[in-house]
Amino acid sequence: MHDAKSSALIDTYAQFPFEIVSGVGSRVRLRDGREMWDFYGGHAVCGIGHSHAAVADAIVRQARELAFYSNVVPLEIRTRAAERLVAFAGAGLRHVFFCNSGAEANENALKLAIQQTNREKIAVADGGWHGRTLLALSATTEEKLRKPFAKLLTESVRLKLNDLDDIRRIDDRVAAVIVEPIESIAGIVTLDPAFLAALRRRCDEIGALLVFDEIQTGVGRCGRAYIAGEHGTQPDIVTSAKSLANGFPVGAVLMNSRVGSRVAGGDLGSTFGGGPLACAAMLAVLDVIEREELIARAAQLGDRMRAALRIGPVCDVLGRGCLIGLRTTRPAKQIQAELFDLGFVTGTSADSHVLRLMPPMNLPFEAIDELGRALHWIGAGKEAAI
Ligand SMILES: Cc1ncc(COP(=O)(O)O)c(C=O)c1O
Repeated sequence: MHDAKSSALIDTYAQFPFEIVSGVGSRVRLRDGREMWDFYGGHAVCGIGHSHAAVADAIVRQARELAFYSNVVPLEIRTRAAERLVAFAGAGLRHVFFCNSGAEANENALKLAIQQTNREKIAVADGGWHGRTLLALSATTEEKLRKPFAKLLTESVRLKLNDLDDIRRIDDRVAAVIVEPIESIAGIVTLDPAFLAALRRRCDEIGALLVFDEIQTGVGRCGRAYIAGEHGTQPDIVTSAKSLANGFPVGAVLMNSRVGSRVAGGDLGSTFGGGPLACAAMLAVLDVIEREELIARAAQLGDRMRAALRIGPVCDVLGRGCLIGLRTTRPAKQIQAELFDLGFVTGTSADSHVLRLMPPMNLPFEAIDELGRALHWIGAGKEAAI
């Protein structure tokens, strides 16, 4: 195996014990020739499957026409991508600012809220994970990441999850409340619709902005374009990234007209944001999702995973669509390692007993059946044959 640890590459990631050389759809091929089902979806990024031909073709076509020009000139493809994305998102979102990553999208969303409300605090939900830049980190509750930068972080109100009474602690110094509608890294923890609706009401009362971080939940993964708008709860801002261009780096800050109309020239900026290659990839992704009806398919895959995977060491199935958590009776890391050996890539989470599945939305149903058989086998102490 290629040894990244002794190379020039900085050694900062805990890595899976195998090297991937190629991927097609939901399958990845390893250096040693083995193939695996990718229930990790390239880190929740390959929402329409690995190396999708439509995305590859769109990138190549655009690269031959105009690979890059920044926001100093208008580009038809950038305007088209913006219009297409807000139409796809719905939920009262009318404008978009493009950047390059999830953290950058959250950083800009929170900066906008601080600027537009002239306030300095943010409110977050316990377990929320929003990125590693300073404002995004201020909204992230993982202590290990926060500690070295504690002095630089913006003051945050940390809300008890799904606790309607605690919402009263959002006061008139709070610029924005930012939440993941389903907290992914925390271990697939779903925020109650009643909690989200109460956050909306409190933000209206107090004059704060409501931000949904849909970097993992969005782009169809949870059986809707975005969770924003579900049960009538519309946030002011939605942030999106990860699978938005299926692996080409893109971040997006989607906003309603109240927020969008108050953005003045020069308030936001990025050299690469909304570049033509990113826009071409994003448009191709949205085409594929609509043409192949992948939002409905994500919902069906979620139903199938919920029905089929409470088996062997799995005592509960959390989440929905293609964002699923498997609660395990033994440490999730052990089960993950055993699944690696059986040919399945899965992820862990901050909860030591939750495995995460974020597969492509066009995962074949048979892959779920195979994973079910593998879990059964693990549960039976590997006595029965798969
Ligand atoms: C919910 C959520 N928000 C923000 C981020 C940060 O995204 P990025 O790594 O693209 O900066 C992540 C990354 O995992 C995430 O899961």
